[in-house]
Amino acid sequence: MSLAIQIRQHGGPEVLEIVEVLDASVGDPGPGEVRIRHRAIGLNFIDVYHRTGLYPLQLPATIGMEGAGVIEAVGEGVTHLRVGDRAAYASQPPGSYCEVRVMPAMCVCKLPDGIDFDTGAAMMLKGLTAQYLLLKTRPVEGLVPGDFVLFHAAAGGVGLIACQWAKALGLQLIGTAGSDAKCQWVLANGAAHAINYNTEDFAARVKEITGGQGVKVVYDSVGQDTWDKSLECLRPFGLMASFGNASGPVAPFSPGLLGAKGSLYVTRQTLFTHMASRQSTQAMADALFAVVLGGEVKIHIAQRYALADVQQAHRDLEARKTTGSTILTL
Ligand SMILES: NC(=O)c1ccc[n+]([C@@H]2O[C@H](COP(=O)([O-])OP(=O)(O)OC[C@H]3O[C@@H](n4cnc5c(N)ncnc54)[C@H](OP(=O)(O)O)[C@@H]3O)[C@@H](O)[C@H]2O)c1
Repeated sequence: MSLAIQIRQHGGPEVLEIVEVLDASVGDPGPGEVRIRHRAIGLNFIDVYHRTGLYPLQLPATIGMEGAGVIEAVGEGVTHLRVGDRAAYASQPPGSYCEVRVMPAMCVCKLPDGIDFDTGAAMMLKGLTAQYLLLKTRPVEGLVPGDFVLFHAAAGGVGLIACQWAKALGLQLIGTAGSDAKCQWVLANGAAHAINYNTEDFAARVKEITGGQGVKVVYDSVGQDTWDKSLECLRPFGLMASFGNASGPVAPFSPGLLGAKGSLYVTRQTLFTHMASRQSTQAMADALFAVVLGGEVKIHIAQRYALADVQQAHRDLEARKTTGSTILTL
């Protein structure tokens, strides 16, 4: 039996219900699966998209895509995990808002001794995202130390990790955030500049900071509200890397616009394309574990909620009240 948070319909935070689960999702793992007992669960903005139906799910569904815990049972063919291992993951399908679950083993990684369960649950989805963005989602002209990049929502879960990792790579990250207090967090975590995009024209400030040149990449997870101005921040041949829709999905646009603004490139990235194999997942996780264990990247767990208080956690995340990572505790 497992307590879990399920939705029976898409909607606001009130559709998140605590239920008792007794079915195969808490039974013996099949081939390629493990059963993991969570010690902590990560909260992510994608959980909001699943809850609202922006990314529709077959219902009823347990949501959540990140967690850390102990492996209780291992299915046939799984060779990288053993019973008793400490482990953490960012993984499909959704279902991490629970005490225990059976799930595909492919994206579950052994957690190094130096990383505790709370940190593991707070960093996998967000940290692996920062990893593929900064290291694999690059402009045609490449990125070298000293280059400027613009990163929106830089005080958030993915954002604070990206600020630190960009600094470790020698990049000058310009971070945007929705308040002066959040901007202080962005600067304290290694960003070269911070812009409060609620009170300042971020495109004008980016031009000023870069001496009129613009940045080589914009990493944009805000979507609707930032899209148009983000294109103005890019230098010729720059890359618009869209990876989220916190303010709503980006409206359709004409490719001619990209020509007019300097032969720009656009990509829409998603984590699970990068994690399509066990090997790529482990390589990405190893890179993340290295920067966390090495101290280049600290995981800030700024909010903790009991699993039963998940409705409040969603309200606070959507109301932009959170900074850094948020976990659900058991
Ligand atoms: N494609 C992928 O592979 C991938 C993977 C992970 C995450 N993501 C995306 O990356 C983003 C960050 O994820 P996260 O879990 O770390 O969340 P988060 O950044 O901790 O929270 C979202 C932040 O977005 C900003 N925001 C701007 N406009 C908003 C609005 N209208 N409503 C709510 N928030 C708004 C807020 O920061 P300010 O107050 O500072 O504006 C808010 O704190 C999300 O859009 C998520 O979907 C994408």
